[in-house]
Amino acid sequence: MPGTAALSTLPHGFVDALRALPGALPVFTSPEELDRFGHDETEDLRFPPQVVVQPRTTEQVAAIVALCAAHAVPITPMGAHTGLSGGALAVHGGVGLSMAKMNAIVNIDERNQQVTVEPGVITQVLQEAVAAKGLYYAPDPSSRGSCTIGGNLAENAGGPRAVKYGVTRDFVLNLQVVLPSGEVIWTGANTLKNSTGYDLTRLIVGSEGTLGIITKAVLRLVPLPKETRLMLVPFPDAHKACEAVSAVFRAGITPSALEFMERDAIDWTLRFVEGVNIAIAEDTAAHLLIEVDGNHGDVLMRECETILGVMEQFGCQDVLFAETSAEKDALWMMRRRVGEAVKSNSVYKEEDTVVPRYELPNLLAKVKEVGAKYGFKSVCYGHAGDGNLHVNIIKGDMPDEAWRKDLPTAIREIFQYTVSVGGTLSGEHGIGLVQRPYMDIAFDPVQLDLMRGIKALFDPLGIMNPGKVLP
Ligand code: LAC
Ligand code: ZN
Repeated sequence: MPGTAALSTLPHGFVDALRALPGALPVFTSPEELDRFGHDETEDLRFPPQVVVQPRTTEQVAAIVALCAAHAVPITPMGAHTGLSGGALAVHGGVGLSMAKMNAIVNIDERNQQVTVEPGVITQVLQEAVAAKGLYYAPDPSSRGSCTIGGNLAENAGGPRAVKYGVTRDFVLNLQVVLPSGEVIWTGANTLKNSTGYDLTRLIVGSEGTLGIITKAVLRLVPLPKETRLMLVPFPDAHKACEAVSAVFRAGITPSALEFMERDAIDWTLRFVEGVNIAIAEDTAAHLLIEVDGNHGDVLMRECETILGVMEQFGCQDVLFAETSAEKDALWMMRRRVGEAVKSNSVYKEEDTVVPRYELPNLLAKVKEVGAKYGFKSVCYGHAGDGNLHVNIIKGDMPDEAWRKDLPTAIREIFQYTVSVGGTLSGEHGIGLVQRPYMDIAFDPVQLDLMRGIKALFDPLGIMNPGKVLP
C-alpha cells in the first residue's frame, strides 16, 4: 500500500550537498532504489524516502544529521527492514539513513564479557562471533538471520530467550548516539552497575530512532550455556496450554524459552516451510515449545521432569522431545517462521500484546471474544513465558468495509483489555507508525506530555524519524 503522508520538499541543492560530504558516500535517488528502502515487514506499507545515504563512520552520520538540521529535512534511520511496527518507514520522506555499512564488530572484550558493535551488525552474526569465544548474546528475534542490532536497539527487540535472559535493553551498557543537532554523545559507562545520573541509555533503547542515531553499542554478554533440552507439548485445549505457562515458573523453573502456538500457526507453517515433518493429532488445539538450558545435562533432565509434571496437570497430549541438534533446529526453524507463514496466507494485522504472565489465558479468551463480536479469525502465537502474545488478525473473507471501519475499534477493545489487566500495547515490536493511534490507551495526557517534552528537548526541529511513537 503506497504511503499517503505529506512529503517535505528537499531544499534545492540538498542532494548535491549530501554527495559533497567527506567520504564520497553512496547516495541513492532512483525510484527503484528508494522503493527498496521504502518498506519493512509491517503489513504491505510503502513509504520510500526521497534520498538514501549510507554512512560508514560516526563522523559521517554526524555530518549528515547536521546538514539535515540546517535545512530541517526529516531523517529516518534504517536497518534491515524487518520491523513489524513501521518504525523505519520514511512517512515524511526526507533522508533514509541506511546503517547497513556500519556493520563492524569493533571489539569482543572477553575479560569483561562485553562487546562493542556498530548498528549494522546482523544479530546472528554477532551471536556466532561471541559464541566462538564461549559467550552468549541472548536476544534472538525470529528475524535474527537478517535483522540488525541497530533495529533491535531501536525497537527494544526480544525473542524467545528473553524469558530467561531479558530483552535487548537488558544487554545494553552504553551507547554512542548522534543527536538531532549533529552532536555526538555516549549515554553511560561500560559497567554492569551504574547509579550515575539519569539513565539516558535505557531512554534511547526503544526510542525507535526518534531521539538520535545509535552509532555504537557496548553490549553485555553472558557465558554460553553448554546444553539445551527442547520439547514440543501439544494440548487439546489452547486455554489450558496458556494456563500451564505460569505454573511452570511457579514450580520453580525458568525455561530459556516458553513459546505458544495455536494450531493454525503450526499447520500454516508446516505447509509453508520445507523439511519439517511433525505428526499432529486431530484434536490438538495448541502447542507449547519449551526449552531449558544450562551446563549439566542431568539437571536439565530433572527440570524437564518437573515441567512434564506441570504439563500433565493441564491435560497435555504426547510430548515430543527433540533428540538431536537437527531436530532442535527443525523445531526452532518452524517456530521462527510462523510470522512469515501467517503473512503468506492472508492479509492480516498483527498486534504485539503483552500482559502479566498469569493473565495470558484471559488475554487469549478476550481476543477470541472480540473476534467473534467483529467477525474476524485470529491466529495467536508468541512468547508465552513473557505474557507476550502476537495476535494475528486474519482478513480472510471479511468485507473490505468492515476491515477498514470495524478493525480499529476491535483492536482498541483488545488493547483496552490488556491495559486493564496490567499489560500494554507492545512487548517487543515497538509502536512505530501502526500502533501510534492507540497510545492514549496505555498513557494518559500527563504521561504523553512528558514524552513529548523529552522529544522536544532532544529534537526541537522534529526532524528525527517524524511521525512515529507519539500521537
Ligand atoms: C516472532 C516475531 C514475530 O515472535 O516477533 O516470531
Ligand atoms: Zn516475537
